[in-house]
Amino acid sequence: MRAIMPLTHQEISLRSVRRRDIRTLERLLVTDREWLRPWEASTPGIRYPLDVRFMVGSLIAQARNDSGLGLIIEYQGQIVGQINVAGIQRGSLSSATIGYWISKKVAGNNITPIAVALTIDYLFLEAKLHRVEIDIRPENTPSLRVVEKLGLREEGLKKRFIHIDGDWRDHRIFAITSEEISGSLLNRL
Ligand SMILES: CC(C)(COP(=O)(O)OP(=O)(O)OC[C@H]1O[C@@H](n2cnc3c(N)ncnc32)[C@H](O)[C@@H]1OP(=O)(O)O)[C@@H](O)C(=O)NCCC(=O)NCCS
Repeated sequence: MRAIMPLTHQEISLRSVRRRDIRTLERLLVTDREWLRPWEASTPGIRYPLDVRFMVGSLIAQARNDSGLGLIIEYQGQIVGQINVAGIQRGSLSSATIGYWISKKVAGNNITPIAVALTIDYLFLEAKLHRVEIDIRPENTPSLRVVEKLGLREEGLKKRFIHIDGDWRDHRIFAITSEEISGSLLNRL
């Protein structure tokens, strides 16, 4: 998927991640370690140090081969979080999964619902995907509010689905398809 130009609504904008974002992301991710750790993907049996350089390189490579898209969330001109579009599948699935985080200091400002709506509108209207999924741990009340605000449909529970914070965790599965939205998801917020 090609790099996207900024998608903007009010004081929130989204753009493709770049190598020059590495230092800022590192600072945010280190500062918010305790805030993010319970919800962060991990690898079984391995305790990696935080490797933001590797993560950004991998997102740029995924965008090149059309398997993913790493987006930076900016609020009032400052980098405050990320949206990652993973597992892009074309053809008869035309689907992808979205993950997100935001810095604790700006939580509660409706930034993530707006950023996710901008992303889903882009994926359906520009990238021509058909279905977007968001997987959330049942304990993650703030994230459950995000999909509730966006009106995503709940599809069920996947047991021990993703390795998060050192163990296999159950996830509630939410999804939306393009024909469930008339026009723009952003307008529905
Ligand atoms: C989940 C998350 C992305 C939500 O982002 P956000 O931009 O704060 O979203 P919203 O402003 O819509 O807030 C959602 C809910 O979070 C809760 N919330 C608000 N401020 C909060 C704060 N300072 N601390 C904790 N929770 C807060 C509220 O319940 C809010 O719902 P409300 O608007 O009905 O009151 C953010 O909490 C986060 O990054 N958490 C850590 C990483 C994570 O969980 N990622 C998602 C994995 S599926």
